[in-house]
Parts: sequence; C-alpha cells; structure tokens
Amino acid sequence: MSEKTMKNLAEGFSGESQANRKYLAYAAQAEKEGYPGVAKMFRTIAAAETYHAHAHFQAMGGVKDTRANLKSALEGETYEFTVMYPGFIKDAEAEGQETARRSFHLANEAEKVHGALYQQAIDKLDSLKGKDADWYLCPICGFVQEGSAPDACPICKAKASVFLKNPQC
Ligand SMILES: [Fe+2]
Ligand SMILES: [Fe+2]
Repeated sequence: MSEKTMKNLAEGFSGESQANRKYLAYAAQAEKEGYPGVAKMFRTIAAAETYHAHAHFQAMGGVKDTRANLKSALEGETYEFTVMYPGFIKDAEAEGQETARRSFHLANEAEKVHGALYQQAIDKLDSLKGKDADWYLCPICGFVQEGSAPDACPICKAKASVFLKNPQC
C-alpha cells in the first residue's frame, strides 16, 4: 500500500474514533437536557463511526492475531505511561492546569494497570484459550480488575458499587 493511502487510513481511523467518543458524550448530555430522541441519534451515528473506524483500521492491516494484538496494545499503553502522560503531567503542573493534571494523572495510573494486564495475558496466553472471565472497570479512573470489583479503587478510591462489569461501550 502507498504511504499516502496508509496515512489517509490512519487519519480516517483517528478521526472516526474521536467522533465516536464525542457523540457518546453528546448523547449523555442530550439525555440530561431531556432530548431522548436526539440522544439516540447521537448514539446511532456514534455506532456508525465505529464501523467506519474499524473498516479503516482493518484496511490498514491493523488487526492481527491475538498474540500480536496484545503486544501492540501493550506497546501503546507503555508509550502512554512512560512518555506521553508523564510529559503531559509535567506541562499541566508547570501551567497550573489542575483539571488537566488530574485527568492525565488518573489515566496514567490506569494505563500502568492496563499494560500489566496485557503483559500477563501475553505471558499465559496458551492457558487462556477457551477460558471466559469477568472484568470490572472503575469508570472514574479506568482501573480494571478481573473477577470482582475491589472494595475501593486502588487508584481513585471509588466504591465497588460504581464499578461496571464487562462494560460494552
Ligand atoms: Fe489504557
Ligand atoms: Fe478508580
């Protein structure tokens, strides 16, 4: 594939992915303001953007077998918690941007957990074939745990009751 088409697919993937997340945020806001039909429109078009994003990503050859996908996911998380977020946190501190700093800090701590989980899955992948599991997510910070929710989130202290089991979004 030409470099140009590859770059265009990557840009399309990135843009559609962002549109999906934006529309889901807009849907939640529309619901809050009392526009349930508009909220559903946002959610439906958000889903359409997901299909676009996945098609672009497939066309790029972005989806490989699960072992390779886990390695790629681990690389992404590792970049985020070793380079990207530490830099962002420093910048936000220097500029006194507390909301941004907290958002980056929570994500940074969660990415370390995500990275560790991907690494564990890579290490024991052969034993995971055919095995089901339940996963719990802290929607405040992004902490993830297998099997059950902790009494309090180890990153942000959120209660077990706010955790989401096997979230779909
Ligand atoms: Fe992550
Ligand atoms: Fe949390």
